[in-house]
Amino acid sequence: MTQDELKRLVGQAAADYVLSNVADGAVIGVGTGSTANCFIDALAPHKRRYRGAVSSSVATTARLEQHGIKVFDLNEIESLPVYVDGADEIDPTGAMIKGGGGALTREKIVASVAEIFVCIADASKRVPVLGGFPLPVEVVPMARTAIGRRLTAVGGVPVLRVTNDGAPYITDNGNEILDVKNLRIDDPRAFEVAVNAWPGVVTVGLFASRGADFCLLGTESGVETIDYGAHR
Ligand code: 5RP
Repeated sequence: MTQDELKRLVGQAAADYVLSNVADGAVIGVGTGSTANCFIDALAPHKRRYRGAVSSSVATTARLEQHGIKVFDLNEIESLPVYVDGADEIDPTGAMIKGGGGALTREKIVASVAEIFVCIADASKRVPVLGGFPLPVEVVPMARTAIGRRLTAVGGVPVLRVTNDGAPYITDNGNEILDVKNLRIDDPRAFEVAVNAWPGVVTVGLFASRGADFCLLGTESGVETIDYGAHR
């Protein structure tokens, strides 16, 4: 199977999970990226069962609305039974690197409110240790260089994310992203706490304190369900 086929497989598996486990009338938390898009497309035919969704990005809002799914502001919502999102890497404890699509801040906010975080990923995203994928760090633009120095001091190689025309990539929140190469993140929780504390960091794309509860992983032999309950 191609990577796209695996993404569609887990998108459908996540929709099946929601349809079987989330009560009618609920609002669903929805992530960002190509795998999350597969989930949106698989859930869309059943949209009348749910009140709508809370979105993690401008791009996801557009896709939800194209399907006629109502998008709520998180401030209007008291609880979210589930949040479904992809990942750039996921380790054996359910800790993830996220933000390859630039939506890490809103993803982390929506995930923090949800009762259950379902990660959907193709098998290439499963790793023994996080850090092979450059770690996205969203920064307030005036802090870019100061944060870059701190990241270099801990052994990373920060690279400012740019668009195809070479301009700085700007997030939905008006900030910039440093993609940090050359990291081996043996203690994701501690590193998340440390980097988050640096003034000027908006969000580090480590999802460890609030990692996934389980992962629907697309493999050649089908969808594997990996439960991280013991690590939470
Ligand atoms: C976006 C994300 C995505 O979930 C992550 O980049 C995976 O994307 P894809 O499903 O396209 O491989 O964190 O900010």
